[in-house]
Amino acid sequence: MKKTPVYLLITLILFSSCSKKNKSFPENFLWGVAVSAFQTEMGNREGTNNDPNSDWWLWTHFNVENNTGRVSKDLPENGPNMYDLYEMDFDNAKSLGLNAFRLSIEWSRIFPDDSGIPVAKEVAHYHQVFQALRERGLKPLVTLHHFTTPLWLHDPLWFIDRANHGNGPKGWLDDRTVHEFVKYAEFCAKEFGEEIDLWATINEPMVVSIGGYLNPLPGNAFPPNELNPEHMVTATINLMKAHAGAYRALKQYDNIDADGDGIASFVGIVQSMTDFAPLDETDEDDKVAAEHASYLLNKWFLNAVARGVLDSNLDGEAEPSPELGPTVDYIGVNYYTRMRVYKLAPIFPDYQFIDFLPSFPEDCENNPCSDMDYMIYPPGLYNVLLIASSYGFPLYITENGIADADDNQRPQFIRDHIAQVLRAINDGMDIRGYFYWSLVDNFEWALGFSKKFGLFSFDPATKVRTMRPSAEVYSEIIGD
Ligand code: BGC
Repeated sequence: MKKTPVYLLITLILFSSCSKKNKSFPENFLWGVAVSAFQTEMGNREGTNNDPNSDWWLWTHFNVENNTGRVSKDLPENGPNMYDLYEMDFDNAKSLGLNAFRLSIEWSRIFPDDSGIPVAKEVAHYHQVFQALRERGLKPLVTLHHFTTPLWLHDPLWFIDRANHGNGPKGWLDDRTVHEFVKYAEFCAKEFGEEIDLWATINEPMVVSIGGYLNPLPGNAFPPNELNPEHMVTATINLMKAHAGAYRALKQYDNIDADGDGIASFVGIVQSMTDFAPLDETDEDDKVAAEHASYLLNKWFLNAVARGVLDSNLDGEAEPSPELGPTVDYIGVNYYTRMRVYKLAPIFPDYQFIDFLPSFPEDCENNPCSDMDYMIYPPGLYNVLLIASSYGFPLYITENGIADADDNQRPQFIRDHIAQVLRAINDGMDIRGYFYWSLVDNFEWALGFSKKFGLFSFDPATKVRTMRPSAEVYSEIIGD
C-alpha cells in the first residue's frame, strides 16, 4: 500500500486553513457538487472513453435505434467527457470554494465481464481522479452504484425484447447481483481505501426499483420498464441486502484513514426523498395517500438499513432484520421536489400501500416549477431532513438541484434551499454537508441532455465549459 505523500498532506493542511468558509455552518461542513460516472464520463471525439458494458448503455442505444419512445433521442457518448477533462472540472469546482466532490465509480469499467479480473487501466484512471481531487483539497464522496449495472449481471432488454433477450441476467431480481456487488465493494475498499474515507453504497435504490418495475411515466423509462409489483419488492429487498453487504465490506477492508481526521471509512446510503403532501389538505383519503407515498418511497428502505426492520411484503408490518441493519454511518438525502398525491383504490390487490398517484405535472399550472416540471418548494427539504434525522444518524444532502436551462430560477433555488439546511442545523439536526447537483450539465438518463442541472454548461462540439451566474451565487454563500 502506498502512503500519502508529504506534499499532499501539506497541500491539504494549507487548503483547509486558508479557505474562508461560511461561519454560520459547522466548521467541517462539506460544500460540494455531485456527478455520476455514466452521466458525465463519456464524450471524447474518438469515442475511446465509451463504456458499452453497462445496462444503461444498451438500454439507451436499443431504444434510440428502434425509436421506441421510451427515452429521448440522446446518447450518453455525447456527454461532457469528464473522463478526460476531470482536472479542468475539479479546477472549476475548487474555484468556487468547494471542499468536497461527490462522484461514482463505473462498476462495468472495472469489471466489464464475469472473469473477476479488474481492468488495470480503469483502476489506474480512478486512482488518478481521486488523487486529482485530493490535490485540490476536494474531499471525495464516492458512490459505488449510481443506477448502472454491468451487462453481464443485467440484460436490460429481457422484458421489452423477450424473443432475443428473455434469457438474459435479471439484475436486481437475481441473488447473484447482490453477491457480486458485495465483491465489487470489497475490491474498491481494498484498492481505493487509501484515498477514500467517505463512501455511498447505492444511489437512490428506490428509484432503481420503482423506476424499473413500477414506472408509469412515458418517455422516461428505466430498465427493464416492467409493471410488476412483486418484482419491485424483490429488487428492493435485494438492493437492501446489497447495501448491507457492501457496508460491511467497506468497513472491514477500508481501514486506512486517507485524510488524517481519524476516520478510515464512513459509509452511507443515498436515499431519494420527496416531500409528499395530500392534494387536498382537508381530505382524509388524500392524507392517507401522502402517508403511503412517504412510507413506500422515503421510509421503507431506510427502516431496513438504518433501523434493521424489514417489511418484506409491503403491508406496513416490519420484522427485525439484523442482517440488513443498522448498516449506515450516515444517511445521504437527495431532495428535488414536493409532490402532492391523491388517493386511489389499491392498484394491485396484494399491495394496499400502492394506492396513490402524484398530481405531477399538473401542479405546475399553479406553482413555480423547474424544467423537469418539479414543483420548487424549499421547505420540503426541511421536511425530508426531519424524516431522515429521526433515524438518529448524521446527514449529508448528497443531491439538491434544479433543471433550469436559462438559469433564471437556479440562483434563488440555491439560496432558499441552503437557508433550509441552515434552519435544520439551527434546530439541532446533525447535517454535515451539502452537494449541489450538478457541476456541469449531463446525461439526464431517459431524458437525455435537454434537462440542464449544471452550474456550468458545456459546448457539445468543443466540450468547453461555461460558468452560469448561479455558480457565483453558490460560491458566495460558501464564502460568506
Ligand atoms: C439522480 C441523478 C439525476 C438527478 C436529477 C437523481 O435522481 O441521482 O442521477 O440526474 O436526480 O434528476
